[in-house]
Amino acid sequence: MHIHRLEKIWLGFGLAMLFVFLGILGVSAFAMGVQPPSEHHHMIDPTKVSETAPFDQPGIKQVADKEYEAVMVAFAFGYTPEKLEVPAGSTVHFTVTSQDVIHGFEIPGTNVNMMIIPGEVSQVSHQFTKPGEYLILCNEYCGGAHEYMMTKIIVK
Ligand code: CUA
Repeated sequence: MHIHRLEKIWLGFGLAMLFVFLGILGVSAFAMGVQPPSEHHHMIDPTKVSETAPFDQPGIKQVADKEYEAVMVAFAFGYTPEKLEVPAGSTVHFTVTSQDVIHGFEIPGTNVNMMIIPGEVSQVSHQFTKPGEYLILCNEYCGGAHEYMMTKIIVK
């Protein structure tokens, strides 16, 4: 079989690139410890959410000046607590888990967008600078009433 010279060069180039990329991947993964963000650093028993702190007392509490901590549980088809209220300019630290299936936790118009996995404790913080009603939506299909799964955070 005859292979054109230019084609040989091109094949060689492709093969060389393959090893260069594998090399980079190997060095970054094994020598530099670069890993995807997949640590399951905080898990609880998903069947005991309502008995496990802090989810035994879901709610919002002030932790500092203009700083709040919201502990929430996602379930089919809603979130506890049902309604949250903070003054404008507050930073809210959300701590969320699910007691049944995978749900979403998205606040449209912000960077808040988490997947809520049963038993996995997910955390995100957001500063609400503008007053208004912010929707918290489920963006993972979780069953028949998925599209009604929401709650609100009221910023005054
Ligand atoms: Cu919960 Cu969709």
